[in-house]
Amino acid sequence: MLEERFRVNLLEGADPRTPADLRRALRGSAAVLGMLSDPFTREVIESAPELKVIATYAVGYNNIDIACCRERGIRVCNTPDVLTEATAELAFALLLAVSRRIVEGDRFTREGRFTGWQPGLMLGVELWGKTCGVIGLGRIGAAFARRARASGMDVVYANRSESPHAAAVQARRVPLEELLRTADVVSIHTPLNAESAGLLSRERLALLKADAILVNTARGQVVDEAALVELLRARRIFGAGLDVFEREPELSPGLVDLPNVVLAPHAGSATRETRAKMGELCAQAIIDVLEGREPRNAVV
Ligand code: GLV
Ligand code: GLV
Repeated sequence: MLEERFRVNLLEGADPRTPADLRRALRGSAAVLGMLSDPFTREVIESAPELKVIATYAVGYNNIDIACCRERGIRVCNTPDVLTEATAELAFALLLAVSRRIVEGDRFTREGRFTGWQPGLMLGVELWGKTCGVIGLGRIGAAFARRARASGMDVVYANRSESPHAAAVQARRVPLEELLRTADVVSIHTPLNAESAGLLSRERLALLKADAILVNTARGQVVDEAALVELLRARRIFGAGLDVFEREPELSPGLVDLPNVVLAPHAGSATRETRAKMGELCAQAIIDVLEGREPRNAVV
């Protein structure tokens, strides 16, 4: 789509890219299709005076200095909606993997340690009849809540305001602390911003129930990862499913040694279907801005 209309410079190899990589790549560019791991800092953006649009291949845009783009009249477009179901599917896959110890059981079986059926072997926790707490009932949170409802769970949610999705998934809004104290499953679906950074602090994580499962497919910086490692190590909660990390791609010390955590490489939207649609949305956004039309999915 882009090569049919524009001269396209493909930057390969350097991932994650540094601000210096981006400054070089943006020289003379009117548009950029960037990844969520690309730091579009003020310094990077201001080094590209011809830039008109940043199309980011993600729904989250915490890697982009939005205020700077607004000041300079640079449009920023993201890829919501097309990745909603894929991300909710991964979150639910992580939940089941933790609750029924799928990864641990796979390793156990492969290693030849399954020597016969036993009543106490690989006991997990059941989701049916439990309470699911969704932090951030936006589109992805609601898609996760729908899956929780279909699995026989009650849904509560914490959100800064009433969510328009609440009625459709029969979710009740509760204060965050109450959610953490009462939910058996806690799944994070808030964007990363000044309010959500560090939201699940050590003190708040300590409120989780003894058999709670925490799932994070949003952003690692919402959770105090070192405190979570300690909780998991002490078996103060049942387990966690993590697709995102506080200092990605680095993992907090001790995380990989824990049997009660299932890890994924930030792959929430990583289905063939969704990734193709994300690419199309980004390309179309660039075409629309450069050809003078109002783009869909404009953040700025
Ligand atoms: C992925 O993390 C996204 O924001 O799309
Ligand atoms: C288990 O395989 C059962 O039959 O209960």
